[in-house]
Amino acid sequence: MTVDLPDKLLADKRFFLSGGGSGVNLAIARTLAACGADLAICGRTESTLDAAAAELRAIGAQVVTAVADVRDSAAVAEAFAASHAQFGPVDGVVCGAAGNFLAPAETISANGFKAVVDIDLLGTFNCASAAHAQLAETGGSLLFVSGGQSYMAFIHQAHVGAAKAGVDQLRRALAAEWGPDGIRVNSIVPGPVTGTEGMRRLTETMSMDSWIQSVPLGRFAEPEEIGRVAAFLLSPWASYITGAEIIADGGLTLSGPGHINMSVTTARSVASG
Ligand code: COA
Repeated sequence: MTVDLPDKLLADKRFFLSGGGSGVNLAIARTLAACGADLAICGRTESTLDAAAAELRAIGAQVVTAVADVRDSAAVAEAFAASHAQFGPVDGVVCGAAGNFLAPAETISANGFKAVVDIDLLGTFNCASAAHAQLAETGGSLLFVSGGQSYMAFIHQAHVGAAKAGVDQLRRALAAEWGPDGIRVNSIVPGPVTGTEGMRRLTETMSMDSWIQSVPLGRFAEPEEIGRVAAFLLSPWASYITGAEIIADGGLTLSGPGHINMSVTTARSVASG
């Protein structure tokens, strides 16, 4: 489905995206670029960032890249400094870097649990914290990327659910605390999205059919469908929205994860004979 985007909506605006080199975050970056914005993207792998930057420049954006692991607060601060040196203060930040794997809770090591909590929750905090001064200057906004795991019980996703529930509460707390600074804080909750690393991992042992049957719209999202919701929340059109989340999951929340959980349990009992 092709949608015409308002190409001046974000003209002269600058956004910083963690994890902006791939997946849903890159789709958000593409949409922001198509609406006229310039972008700073950060991630762990330089070659991934370079490929994404070339794609975004072809849309018309100015792009700066910064290699940083969101778990490293000093590296994140440096990435925001590099963005500031290029563009001045940013108008919005997408805290999208995430990590996931599918694993039974009893097999996850403390370090495995911590890796996901550190990328998703601490990484979101590190970006929010590093961005505060710039966003206070521009009256900008933060966009967190949450997940249905934060409020629905997906089996083999305990670590992600715990991390994303933390992200949700961080959204509420920072929206209340930083509202007086003129900073809005919102979240997007994507459902299953076509072609992303996250869904590749989730469908390794869960059947694709169980996902599709659980989504009332009967299909995965195209990445751009998430990009457009993100662009709305970051734009002046959402200027009175803060502390909110928009669930863009084709209705998965209405069905719940029962079908999907059952497909994991079945795969597990088949595997163990
Ligand atoms: N099942 C159980 N434990 C796992 C695992 C799996 N499939 N994959 C990794 N772990 C554990 C490791 O065993 C390790 O714990 P240990 O030290 O006790 O052995 C711990 O997680 C950290 O693994 P490591 O690979 O060293 O961490 P990393 O920091 O390089 O990577 C991950 C972080 C694990 C989240 C990795 O999957 C990643 O980098 N993901 C990014 C991409 C991604 O997940 N995209 C989807 C986003 S929705």
